[in-house]
Amino acid sequence: MKIKNICCIGAGYVGGPTMAVIAQKCPEINVTVVDINEKRIAAWNDENVENIPIYEPGLSKVVEEARDRNLFFSTDVDKAIDQADMIFISVNTPTKTYGMGKGMAADLKFIELCARQIARVSTSDKIVIEKSTLPVRTAEALKNILENTGNGVSFQILSNPEFLAEGTAVEDLMQPDRVLIGGDIDTEKGKEAVQALVDVYAHWVPKEQILTTNVWSSELSKLTANAFLAQRVSSINAMSELCEKTGADVNEVAKAVGMDSRIGPKFLKSSVGFGGSCFQKDILNLVYIAKSFGLNEVADYWEQVITMNDHQKKRFALNIVRTLFNTVSGKKIALLGWAFKKDTNDTRESAAIYVSDYLLNEQADIVIYDPKVTEEQIYADLNYLGTRSEEENIARVTVLSNPYEVCENAHAIAVLTEWDEFKDYDWQRIYDGMLKPAFLFDGRQLLNRKKKEDIGFEFYAIG
Ligand SMILES: NC(=O)c1ccc[n+]([C@@H]2O[C@H](COP(=O)([O-])OP(=O)(O)OC[C@H]3O[C@@H](n4cnc5c(N)ncnc54)[C@H](O)[C@@H]3O)[C@@H](O)[C@H]2O)c1
Repeated sequence: MKIKNICCIGAGYVGGPTMAVIAQKCPEINVTVVDINEKRIAAWNDENVENIPIYEPGLSKVVEEARDRNLFFSTDVDKAIDQADMIFISVNTPTKTYGMGKGMAADLKFIELCARQIARVSTSDKIVIEKSTLPVRTAEALKNILENTGNGVSFQILSNPEFLAEGTAVEDLMQPDRVLIGGDIDTEKGKEAVQALVDVYAHWVPKEQILTTNVWSSELSKLTANAFLAQRVSSINAMSELCEKTGADVNEVAKAVGMDSRIGPKFLKSSVGFGGSCFQKDILNLVYIAKSFGLNEVADYWEQVITMNDHQKKRFALNIVRTLFNTVSGKKIALLGWAFKKDTNDTRESAAIYVSDYLLNEQADIVIYDPKVTEEQIYADLNYLGTRSEEENIARVTVLSNPYEVCENAHAIAVLTEWDEFKDYDWQRIYDGMLKPAFLFDGRQLLNRKKKEDIGFEFYAIG
């Protein structure tokens, strides 16, 4: 089966970059990315390719090459579905905020809406691909909806979870560790559908790295991968607190441990805690699934990863309060970084949000600088917590576009995202402009302690 037209529903952090790379690598396939968010689609179509809505190193260049050649962004969802042979569903699957499974289960309403729309609109056979991260056995529900509400056309459902990391999305997509495709490999039609997707990726991914499994394994592998990655962060963060009490250095411990080839060095950097839209949501989802099967020990085991992460964010904020003579009330605290990691403008579940919230509860005045995050987004993140009114957030929080101004007259600085540019600042100038003692809290192990202490900073780093 040769694929000519691909549609991707959802032009977000996954749909946008993934489809841009597929279009670039497969010039004979037309790829249309659709979204109900008109503003987002308009930004993807912005004449100046630097204004696309998602910041990822190298992404603008890929979009520039493929856009209007075989890569299109549109709000006409029905048309793109109807024309496609292959449809990726890449919509958001946030944690439920209401009803059964509130605060834990994945909210699948956007997925179901997509399935119903595909069923309603389709007049020819389609391969429907779960690109969103979903609870194991969601494909069954999709199949049920498609087969019972469709126009008699045939659907094959595949799971093809995305493993890209924000900040390195383009690199990860160009050279993935593996591509995972789950399908109904016991039937001829299922095998054909899997092969059609394998052929798309085979344009640039070596065949040995394209893994095919049954659908349930594929769905569960994505949740498992995120749980394992987050668990490593929480594990090293747990050790960071012990290091602070014992005089061990968490970087030295991480290095010694990571050189063991059974363990490996990646994801062993301690920090103020992991953020991002996926880790927490996917672990909570895993916990919910385990509980729903009565597997309470399994659920409790994974839940601890989240508990540890929450603890790490909180203890970082409380350490600031304690160090500043047990009060930050009315004190100016400068925050460098708001994105959940460097090289992205994504702020979902960023540790900075929670650290700010704790400090605001202590009546601190917060001044923020992030190279890629807008003022509007920062206020939206704080307002979303609902801890205090929008007016209070505006009164206590200032967002500036100059890092030196942010640090001017501050009692303390907290580094919350590991943006490279922070390392190269004129720290002497920053120190000179601050109130003394000048406290510097490095939540990302980014800055050189010795150099900062030589300048005169009271320096605190995790671990
Ligand atoms: N962000 C990541 O790093 C990452 C990595 C791997 C997997 N994932 C998974 O991929 C999925 C998407 O994540 P994301 O970060 O791209 O989300 P996102 O919120 O950035 O994008 C989702 C988009 O889907 C659109 N959408 C929702 N319902 C729609 C509908 N019915 N029709 C058309 N458009 C609709 C939204 O408007 C939004 O623009 C999630 O399941 C996530 O868990 C994310």
